[in-house]
Amino acid sequence: MMTYTWLDGAEARQQLTSLSDLLQACVADGASIGFTDAQDRAVIERIWQDRAALLSSGQNELLVAWQPDAVVGCVMIHAASMPNGRHRAEISKLLVHPRARRQGIARQLMQQAETRTQALGKRLLVLDTRSGNVASLLYRSFGWQTAGSIPAYAESVTGELEATTVMFKPLAVSLDQGLA
Ligand SMILES: CC(C)(COP(=O)(O)OP(=O)(O)OC[C@H]1O[C@@H](n2cnc3c(N)ncnc32)[C@H](O)[C@@H]1OP(=O)(O)O)[C@@H](O)C(=O)NCCC(=O)NCCS
Repeated sequence: MMTYTWLDGAEARQQLTSLSDLLQACVADGASIGFTDAQDRAVIERIWQDRAALLSSGQNELLVAWQPDAVVGCVMIHAASMPNGRHRAEISKLLVHPRARRQGIARQLMQQAETRTQALGKRLLVLDTRSGNVASLLYRSFGWQTAGSIPAYAESVTGELEATTVMFKPLAVSLDQGLA
């Protein structure tokens, strides 16, 4: 059975191995998510340690999908920290393990992340994704719009420079929040 849970910093640290396994499997499968070497486990674990520290700061949230004992998917929300960006958050680390794909896990993660962001009073979501990534089909189906693309933005696991597409989604103000 699949369950979805928000983790705090301590819980993320407890799941460091499972989160690193997920990230490593996605990079090995060719995902463009910051890494060029799937074998560099130390770098992957350091990233999750850094993310766990950010979770403790309260500016970030991590949602994971569990399938009995292992994390099979995740997504992060990063609230903009500068005063003029308090209404804005960025989505990152939308990952689903290659063996758990096409079961609607990413769709659930994105739906719950959006609901959470809205409940936090945010009015704008942003993200970037490798141009042509299947994830952009998912984002579009949730009403995300494309701002544009930047050529030669990030190096792929095979060494080519690939374009990234910047996307955004204005959020309706949650009834709980009212107009600030
Ligand atoms: C992108 C990713 C998160 C999708 O996860 P998933 O759980 O398989 O996605 P879902 O089953 O929820 O599918 C949601 C929608 O995405 C699109 N989609 C996902 N995988 C697809 C594929 N291989 N081919 C075509 N469309 C696809 C479809 O529109 C799908 O809706 P549908 O099933 O109703 O057609 C997953 O492939 C992944 O982790 N990729 C590597 C990491 C990555 O690129 N993350 C995005 C960073 S911005």
